[in-house]
Amino acid sequence: MRPDLEVPLPVPDDAWRTRPAAQQPDWPSVSELRDAVRRLESLPVLVPAEECERLRLRMADVARGRSFLLQGGDCAETFDMITPEGVGATRGTLRSMAATLSDALAMPVVTMGRTAGQYAKPRSRNTETRGGVTLPVYRGDAVNGTEFTPEARTPDPGRLLRSRHVAAVTIGYLRELADEGDEFFVSHEGLLLDYEAALTRTDPRTGRRWAGSGHLLWIGERTRDLDGAHVEYFSTVDNPIAVKLGPTADADTVLRLADRLDPEREPGRLTFISRMGSRAVRHVLPELVSRVAAEGFPTAWVCDPMHGNTVTAPSGHKTRYFNTVMDEIRGFFEVHRTLDTVAGGLHLEMTGRDVTECVGGTGGVSADDLADRYESACDPRFNRAQSLEVAARVAELASKSPGPLRVSPTIYF
Ligand code: PEP
Ligand code: CO
Repeated sequence: MRPDLEVPLPVPDDAWRTRPAAQQPDWPSVSELRDAVRRLESLPVLVPAEECERLRLRMADVARGRSFLLQGGDCAETFDMITPEGVGATRGTLRSMAATLSDALAMPVVTMGRTAGQYAKPRSRNTETRGGVTLPVYRGDAVNGTEFTPEARTPDPGRLLRSRHVAAVTIGYLRELADEGDEFFVSHEGLLLDYEAALTRTDPRTGRRWAGSGHLLWIGERTRDLDGAHVEYFSTVDNPIAVKLGPTADADTVLRLADRLDPEREPGRLTFISRMGSRAVRHVLPELVSRVAAEGFPTAWVCDPMHGNTVTAPSGHKTRYFNTVMDEIRGFFEVHRTLDTVAGGLHLEMTGRDVTECVGGTGGVSADDLADRYESACDPRFNRAQSLEVAARVAELASKSPGPLRVSPTIYF
């Protein structure tokens, strides 16, 4: 064919299947996986496209500095922990935090749970050894069970169907809890591509394609490979999406991610969630934010002050210190103030329950208390008091100085 007649072929929606997919379970039975996927494909999606579309508008406001995002919930939701009390406590805590932040920042807060789908975890090792026995690592309730037995740890595709079911129950209850005019969105890491693709639908009227498992999905720090399956899948859906960026992210990679995932440069489409750690945030983040802004990407920036600040306590518990988390939040705001860009929101691992998983805050959880109520199936979460305190401290930052939380950047789009 003459080169001037060559038209690029459209990339098929399932092109992700041809790319390497990191962090996928080793399902023992391909036919069981196929059955589960077929069943998921035949069921209704969990969130309507209109709500995803509406969230894109809300996230565009976040990117412009006209709204602030508060995103929070469990590191790993478990099927058994989903109770009306638990869902209600976390929802209530987020609602109180949002009220505090909205007052202090004098702008609307977009409230979003890490919920109704946060059942799959990326892990740094494939196996775990205890007492000389080696088994597959726990990858979240969507894949296997926490119990250290061969039965529980063997990946079971039937769990993908249970995930959809528990997510539907969670969303149903959250809708019951909604006050009038009270928006609440759900989000999770889009890790298991078989699950996500099986719940993705193309709207025949608009031709737009929506991941139907949650309003916003994000790509984790371990699966954001530019040539990998996750970036490919995410490039084919129209939802608002986010990508986590850790301290090893370099500006060129970040710009290429922005190009792949938001080629039309549409405000509200792409959010970067910075999770640098308190020590790195002030020197790693500035170049990333300034290059993205200089290239004209209307990306929102949100701070996850949890994942770069995980340490092991003397008791062996994974934990996070309240003051270190606050320091990363302060660093994040400082960077944006210096660059005259928008500090768009917070992404927290938290729960409304009175757990003892993170150390510090005025509630006085000490390293010696960690064993008391350490209930997380994965990373340590702020409890209700610690979560409310973060909101109060951010509000204090906003009131003390006209600088750090400034809302009107000089870039307009
Ligand atoms: C998480 O959000 O629980 C997580 C694994 O984060 P990250 O991808 O940033 O490490
Ligand atoms: Co986590």
